[in-house]
Amino acid sequence: MTRRTDQLKLGAFLANSGHHVAAWRHPLAQADASLDFEHFKAIARSAERGRFDALFVADVVALWGHHLDALSRTARGEHFEPLTLMAALAAVTEHIGLIATATTSYNEPYHIARKFASLDHLSKGRAAWNLVTSVVSDEAWNFGRESHIEHADRYQRAEEFHDVVKGLWDSWDDDAFPRDKASGQYFDPDKLHTLNHRGQHFAVRGPLNVARPPQGHPVLVQAGASEPGKALAARVAEVIFASHHELPAAQAFYQDIKQRAAALGRDPDHIKILPGVTPFIGETREQAQALFDEFQALIDPVLGLRLLADTLGEDIDLSGHDLDGPLPETPAGQRGSRRDQVLEVARRDNLSIRQLYLRLAGGNPVIGTPEDIADTFEAWFQGRACDGFNVFFPYFPGSIDTFVDQVIPLLQARGLFRREYEGRTLRENLGLPRPANRFSAREEARA
Ligand SMILES: Cc1cc2nc3c(=O)[nH]c(=O)nc-3n(C[C@H](O)[C@H](O)[C@H](O)COP(=O)(O)O)c2cc1C
Repeated sequence: MTRRTDQLKLGAFLANSGHHVAAWRHPLAQADASLDFEHFKAIARSAERGRFDALFVADVVALWGHHLDALSRTARGEHFEPLTLMAALAAVTEHIGLIATATTSYNEPYHIARKFASLDHLSKGRAAWNLVTSVVSDEAWNFGRESHIEHADRYQRAEEFHDVVKGLWDSWDDDAFPRDKASGQYFDPDKLHTLNHRGQHFAVRGPLNVARPPQGHPVLVQAGASEPGKALAARVAEVIFASHHELPAAQAFYQDIKQRAAALGRDPDHIKILPGVTPFIGETREQAQALFDEFQALIDPVLGLRLLADTLGEDIDLSGHDLDGPLPETPAGQRGSRRDQVLEVARRDNLSIRQLYLRLAGGNPVIGTPEDIADTFEAWFQGRACDGFNVFFPYFPGSIDTFVDQVIPLLQARGLFRREYEGRTLRENLGLPRPANRFSAREEARA
């Protein structure tokens, strides 16, 4: 395999007290971080000091589940609305991209087009939309529905939703606003385009009441893993969050997506695939392992069993079983490929119930010295398993500074990561082209 000469793309996942599910209980983490803007500001500035490409914030438009016995043991019961948080962070940062999550299942395209166009203007071209179709079914109850929209329907809606949003972002030519005091013309009506969309799910006339975003279109991020999820990603995503823990699976996903995109006429280099990774860093491997073990020991079994049930099937109750015994047979229910993967791991590694939920809760940890972390990043990048990483910092505020001070310089010394931001916008830093306006491109073709 030829050695890659491009560089890693890095995202920093913003998560209240940290990404580890029990982080808020650890002495190194700030427990009351969820709605503390100063906390997020400090993290954002650390990420920018480390020359990260972007900050990322996830979202659920409901409580993160309705099993209060488990939820009440996490810091997930409260969180900022992502676009509001990112708008505030735009004002206290200069270079870093701002990836906010918004669902296509319980929103309207006009609202989403408008909000992300606004964020792109506010931040001078640093906005990105993580398009999700909602993983938490409880969201349905907040939007007049008895039950969640079915998976296939969610993706059909998402496809159309996406197309409408992009159409609205093209409402104005880039030079539609002469704002000419002498002639009195503020905008040029010939450079305004009305979408007039009528589809299966949406009827949206347009145009948008915000000028074309500085990036043309804010960057499109997606994390689908199912067949319709991957189809949407291959067609429209510019950044993909992946969740593979093992190199061969990550390589297969990488190749699959890049090939699908090429078959659709896209340049595969214009899709950046970023798996999530949680670095636990120590001066020695033993120290790093001890740190990881401390976090894992803080996971309450009630929470651990809930994480397991959420993966195997919501109604499964394992509380009567010996936690240090084997996993009993459980009915398949509605859970799909993720359930099968977890059962396979339990069987292969002969895991007890406790070991299995700890494995799930631990996420995708990379445990070791700064050199070990840099080696893993390099191996995955050069092995074409990814184009970079979405870094899930285990605890905040400390773990991002450790990473920036100890791992980033190693990546830079190996030529794997930038020393300075190359561009002005997120698109430029990611090496993504600025899309032409579909309406002006059509007019130019006719002229
Ligand atoms: C890093 C990462 C972040 C995600 N963030 C969210 C989120 O904030 N909200 C959400 O509803 N889903 C989120 N998802 C779920 C994905 O959008 C997607 O639904 C999931 O990967 C399953 O794929 P599928 O939808 O194709 O079945 C995330 C997934 C990953 C890997």
